[in-house]
Amino acid sequence: MNGSTSGNELLIRPRTTGDLAQAAAALVTVHEADGYPVEGVEDPEAWLSPSELLTAWVAELSGRVVGHAAVSGMDGCRTGTLERLFVLPDARRHRAGERLIRAAEEYAQAQKLALELEVLTKDEAAIRLYKRLGWTETGQRTHRLDIGDSYPALTFVAPKVPTSQARSSG
Ligand SMILES: CC(C)(COP(=O)(O)OP(=O)(O)OC[C@H]1O[C@@H](n2cnc3c(N)ncnc32)[C@H](O)[C@@H]1OP(=O)(O)O)[C@@H](O)C(=O)NCCC(=O)NCCS
Repeated sequence: MNGSTSGNELLIRPRTTGDLAQAAAALVTVHEADGYPVEGVEDPEAWLSPSELLTAWVAELSGRVVGHAAVSGMDGCRTGTLERLFVLPDARRHRAGERLIRAAEEYAQAQKLALELEVLTKDEAAIRLYKRLGWTETGQRTHRLDIGDSYPALTFVAPKVPTSQARSSG
């Protein structure tokens, strides 16, 4: 389960320490392409490991890390946050994003966590994907950076039943 892919198969697996450098390099590429994250990528490895990180996954294609997602949350808190989600531009639209989100949904269900997220309104592909996967928009907020810039954002909660289970049972 934790092994590498031999061919063109996309593999979603738990992130290991050895993945961090590749995931960080992918994040720098995504930042150049999409301006994600708006905080910048001065120290991408640190940004991928926030203090409240619970777990993270990578999407691997032909031995290359092409995507990433994480769930964070405070100890003892029944809410988890899906964050640090991105896929390299040249690997997009092959369901890597969807499968990373599903991994997070299944983890949250197993841990009995309510899963939520914040997305900037400028990140339209992500918003469309969350809606397609049955996430519900719960409100608007402003994402403020330490340096003073601010960005309009939306909040979403995950469907009660993980997307994969909803699909296989219906
Ligand atoms: C969001 C993101 C992770 C999706 O990755 P992905 O591997 O392409 O995802 P999938 O292949 O599972 O799904 C692609 C979906 O994105 C959406 N999408 C892709 N390109 C789009 C575009 N140009 N305009 C609008 N929606 C688009 C669609 O919903 C699409 O689904 P469809 O193919 O059924 O139409 C990727 O676009 C990305 O890394 N974006 C930049 C970082 C980001 O915004 N992260 C989210 C932060 S909250």
